[in-house]
Amino acid sequence: MAIRRALAEWRIGIVGLGYVGLTTAAVLAYHGVKVTGVDVDAAKVEAINRGEAPIYEPGLNKLLREAIERGTLYATTSYAPLREADIIFITVGTPSLSDGSINLGYVFDAAEKLADALAASTAEYPVVAVKSTVVPGTTRRVAGIIEEQTGLHPGRDFGAASNPEFLREGRAVEDTLNPSRVVIGGIEPRSASQLKEFWQSFYQRLGTNPPILVVDNPETAEMIKYASNAFLAMKISFANMLARICEKITGCDIVEVVKGMARDPRINPAFLGAGLGYGGSCFPKDVKALTAHARSLCVEPRLLEAIDWVNETQPHHIAKRLEELLNTLRGKTVTILGAAFKPDTDDVRESRALALAKILAERGARVRIHDPNPKALENAKRTLGPIAEYTTSMEEALRGADAAVIATDWEHYKSLNPALYTRLMRRPLLFDARRIYDPQTMKKAGVEYHAVGLGGDPK
Ligand code: UDX
Repeated sequence: MAIRRALAEWRIGIVGLGYVGLTTAAVLAYHGVKVTGVDVDAAKVEAINRGEAPIYEPGLNKLLREAIERGTLYATTSYAPLREADIIFITVGTPSLSDGSINLGYVFDAAEKLADALAASTAEYPVVAVKSTVVPGTTRRVAGIIEEQTGLHPGRDFGAASNPEFLREGRAVEDTLNPSRVVIGGIEPRSASQLKEFWQSFYQRLGTNPPILVVDNPETAEMIKYASNAFLAMKISFANMLARICEKITGCDIVEVVKGMARDPRINPAFLGAGLGYGGSCFPKDVKALTAHARSLCVEPRLLEAIDWVNETQPHHIAKRLEELLNTLRGKTVTILGAAFKPDTDDVRESRALALAKILAERGARVRIHDPNPKALENAKRTLGPIAEYTTSMEEALRGADAAVIATDWEHYKSLNPALYTRLMRRPLLFDARRIYDPQTMKKAGVEYHAVGLGGDPK
């Protein structure tokens, strides 16, 4: 397709300045696109306009500061400036409701508030692009809300499309600069082609040129996002289910089993890492949301339910194994190494480490939690409160402990000298719930090593 507009000519609006919205805004504005970001949180807006990112993502602060200095990014609590936007991305949160379905309230609220700006739009054909993870049908409902509020006709006076986001936390900037793919599904071809034109010119400038996939409608694009996350979560739960079987078989090791599986070119080894299960703001929520949506469509979601069941029970399974190894958890000091839901983040949302801490404390253990990132530890303390002790010192964490569990696969733990465990712990029982160590090395060093997915030693 011929590129008709220079990148600097595009006017972009972004509603919701969280992980996805702020990263998208900063990356685009840094590369010269004029971006207006809207958020309801005035303190957040002020911080952004000072060039300070309210969240931590590698590389984000630098991009944000430069974009603010160059004047290509401006944040505001007002929707009015969006009347100039050619494309308005909706990137607000979609939290879970108690039945697992998602709360689309913020998305619909954004649509309502956008309506006035669209009615007064100076753009030739403004397109509303939904980036928030939403169930199929939502983008069309967003267009319907705007139509009701303004009398404008979707597909004639304004466009709408689904343009889901696949970035990973901790790699948000990197993934935005170089995504695995860009998926677009418009309510009619013009919406999709305008979005495609924008992304194509942006990625051409960067020279990364990811595949841009235009699908027939927003529902298919919305479904691609859920399908991708549910599939990755399924791989993790599959590995954890297999791990439980391997643990019952003398000499069997899930790590070796996955290596063997991955020699089949049809099986990709990524996300087959057995462990404590998946956490974070996406997988747990998205699997539950897709399950609830399937039910609402009268589809039996048994496979989806099983993904969630394995994940929810995995910390219980690990707690049981610890209880067997220690005879009882009552009065035993157990150190949990890692609080963040994955390495290189301070995020503890749905962290399996915290789920495990809670179970151990309920069963009478004295729980200590360590994380090399002080902010992750602070977040853990705020979430769990006084049921555990918290420290960033390895010495304090391990001294006198009856057992330690690797709960997050931080690099920090991988490079530790095994002598630390044998020297400091009352009993050097290490349960590797993220498979970061070589079993033989640890055993030779005198560590009483047990791990997820690892059967007992042959006699
Ligand atoms: C995920 C998706 O990867 C991303 O594409 C989507 O947009 C948002 O959700 P994120 O939540 O940032 O991203 O984390 P990710 O790196 O995918 O890990 C999710 C969880 O799975 C972590 O708790 C991690 O420890 C766990 N995991 C991952 C495993 O237990 N085993 C694995 O093999 C891989």
